[in-house]
Amino acid sequence: ASTLGAQAAQSGRYFGTAVAAGKLGNSTYSTILDREFNMITPENEMKWDTTEPSRGSFNFGPADQIVSHAQAHGQRMRGHTLVWYQQLPGWVSGIGDANTLRSVMDNHITSVMNHYKGKIYAWDVVNEAFADGGSGQHRSSVFQNVLGNGFIEEAFRTARSADPSAKLCYNDYNIENWSDAKTQGVYTMVRDFKSRGVPIDCVGFQSHFGSNGPPASFQTTLSNFAALGVDVQLTELDIAQAGSTQYGNTVKACMNVSRCAGITVWGIRDSDSWRSGDNPLLFDGNGNKKAAYSAVLSALGSG
Ligand code: G3I
Repeated sequence: ASTLGAQAAQSGRYFGTAVAAGKLGNSTYSTILDREFNMITPENEMKWDTTEPSRGSFNFGPADQIVSHAQAHGQRMRGHTLVWYQQLPGWVSGIGDANTLRSVMDNHITSVMNHYKGKIYAWDVVNEAFADGGSGQHRSSVFQNVLGNGFIEEAFRTARSADPSAKLCYNDYNIENWSDAKTQGVYTMVRDFKSRGVPIDCVGFQSHFGSNGPPASFQTTLSNFAALGVDVQLTELDIAQAGSTQYGNTVKACMNVSRCAGITVWGIRDSDSWRSGDNPLLFDGNGNKKAAYSAVLSALGSG
């Protein structure tokens, strides 16, 4: 096949990108989007500061624009994200009472998931809950500090009730190298959830890589998580300087793991990237395919 999405589909996988609602009117952007990608993640529009800027007052306009676009163009959606310590409005981060925060968190999950019920392939239910560095523990956040370790389980159970048809993912960065404490912390949580019947279907590996690309152990990490009985997904891929070898190796790691369901890059053109100074994406600022594009297309054919 001659596009990323169609090539990925030949092995039953998807190839997606992050999308900003404000760019859908740009024809260079939307032409590439609709030609190459069959999965979409809203880059910011489903985050708490946009969807519930004040308590009980929901704003789905920007995300609805993206979902409508996806439906009109046969693209599936990843929902990103329900519970995250960033892009969190001050009215949430200031809550100190556990019963209040639990009910606010559960209501947020339920309301957002209900609005998009049946339209989302997979939700990042909890994003970036683990600390950087060597602790292997949860990071500090209002959810962790007020509700304790159980907030993640609570979020997943609530999410399952809200939309039983959506896959429920835990999503994080710097969990690609198998021996890292952060990777081990997440692995231990997923193993525990599976053993106790806490609903979790997938783990998202953000895959924001430096110029060296993925760690040598990346495929091992993906297959070890998959062996716990969850899908694995590459959810926010970008690689500083976008080396062809580095992109090719990343895609091959996914292709070699049958439960690696698909890959999402975190933006279309370099100029769309949150780290645009690194030129980390598959299209240049003019929308031309970069060398890494061909490496990805050919690696997607290796399955
Ligand atoms: O929309 C406002 C605009 O009104 C305002 O004038 C402007 C001034 O700063 O800010 C705009 O909001 C920015 C928003 O992107 C939309 O462009 C925020 O400042 C900016 O912080 C925000 O950055 C996003 C970042 O998450 C926030 O943490 C990036 O676009 C987005 O790519 C990035 O994505 C995250 C994933 O969600 C989770 N994993 C890491 C990844 C990269 O940081």
